[in-house]
Amino acid sequence: MDKFGVIPRAGIPREELLSRMKEMKQGDLDWEGGRTFSLVYHGGEEHLRLLREAYGLYIAENLLNPMAFKSLKGMEAEVVRMTANMLNGPADTVGTMTSGGTESILLAAKTYRERARRKRPWIRRPEMVVAATVHVAFEKAAEYFGLRFVKVPVGDDFRVDPRALRRRIGRNTVMIAASAPQFPQGVIDPITELGQVALEKKLPFHVDACIGGFILPWLERLGHPLPPWDFRVPGVTSISADVHKYGYASKGASTLTFRDMSYMRDQFFISTDWTGGIYASPNMQGTRAGGAVAAAWAAMKFMGEEGYLEMARGALETTRRYVEGVRAIEGLRLLGPPDATLVAIASEDPELDIYVVADLLDEKGWAPDRQQYPASLHVTLTSNHEAVIDDYLADLAGAVAQARAQPELKGQGKAPMYGMMAKAPVRGMVRMSVRKIMESMYSPAGEVPDLGQVGQSEDDDPLLKLIGKYGEPAMKLLDQVQDARTAVGRFLKRE
Ligand SMILES: Cc1ncc(COP(=O)(O)O)c(C=O)c1O
Repeated sequence: MDKFGVIPRAGIPREELLSRMKEMKQGDLDWEGGRTFSLVYHGGEEHLRLLREAYGLYIAENLLNPMAFKSLKGMEAEVVRMTANMLNGPADTVGTMTSGGTESILLAAKTYRERARRKRPWIRRPEMVVAATVHVAFEKAAEYFGLRFVKVPVGDDFRVDPRALRRRIGRNTVMIAASAPQFPQGVIDPITELGQVALEKKLPFHVDACIGGFILPWLERLGHPLPPWDFRVPGVTSISADVHKYGYASKGASTLTFRDMSYMRDQFFISTDWTGGIYASPNMQGTRAGGAVAAAWAAMKFMGEEGYLEMARGALETTRRYVEGVRAIEGLRLLGPPDATLVAIASEDPELDIYVVADLLDEKGWAPDRQQYPASLHVTLTSNHEAVIDDYLADLAGAVAQARAQPELKGQGKAPMYGMMAKAPVRGMVRMSVRKIMESMYSPAGEVPDLGQVGQSEDDDPLLKLIGKYGEPAMKLLDQVQDARTAVGRFLKRE
């Protein structure tokens, strides 16, 4: 057996490697069986085979130099054009493919910051004003690109109030953003009204349709009632839409489209002085995986309108059954209710801890997403869940019954950590402790830490120990300290 972290002296034969990898996969979540809810979008066996072949055909090609592999550049252009048409973009709509939703959002933020630098150079502290429920990638963008992140609270229906957002716009605002739909509760922000605000304030308006971009158009075609949200809405200047979500492409494929080139021009990075030559790049990557672009193009062409309509119909039907099933389970309530195929549920019984329900579902091999503010469980449904939704509902009902029958479990559930899980209490997951997890995960040993143990070992953060000992009151106190620190920090920066 070769040692971990050591390149073996002689290469390991192909068959052995592949069988080893298949074995390694055994402990992973069963996405093909519909056990995961937002990590994988499965278009069926035949579709998957096509993706593998399309990706494989371009596995070595690099879109860094679009002149070198003209066929790939052509595919990117066509993915963008097909997407723009699907989003009802005018003829002038332009865009690029990116590696994913996060990159599309980062780029939109960078583009609008550059635009402001060009048009309003006096702005010293640019800011983005966004619905509080926008994807965390916006906060990441703000941190990366030096923008102040202004979050506008949402109402009881989880939609942002356009008047509240308008009030938060100041002389340093360089962009506004909202979602169609937002991830946590699956509702669409009031895009038409926000478009009016954008026009009135002469600001760019980014609609994050990373998750909705490739399903809302088909839901609309199926007659599902939806508020307007795409380029048909005046004031919308850009949209992110991920092909690797409901577009059923392989991972590494999103699109960022702009109403016209006057917005997109600020996206490009150009250097004329580098000793390696003149360098121009449309997005954040250097080398760009040809396979991801080719597979996205193939996915769209293979699905066709009929395929997408069929997938959307399946997802919608599954959502309808899920919503109905949840309504029949005492102690649960729907957040939203959802506009599309993303659903969040919470407990309406103070004695029922939804995180305990989640842990019990984990034990049954399901992987629902845990969320906070309010404590809830999220599912992103696709037609791949159609076959298993009744089993899921039965296990959900069972988990709720068990959680109620064992009130001593209350407060013991794992906390929500987007894309991961952790046992420590939500607000106790202070930045410092999360950083520790990240450091250990990306340490030379590359360990996957036992998140269940966070906050329980001697070396763990003293704050977590405090929380472990005093529970809720300690968390509240820490929250207040954290808020005060943020406020003081803001005040000092303003000086
Ligand atoms: C609304 C929304 N925006 C952005 C993203 C980020 O996309 P990615 O994970 O591809 O970076 C997601 C992911 O689920 C999302 O739901």
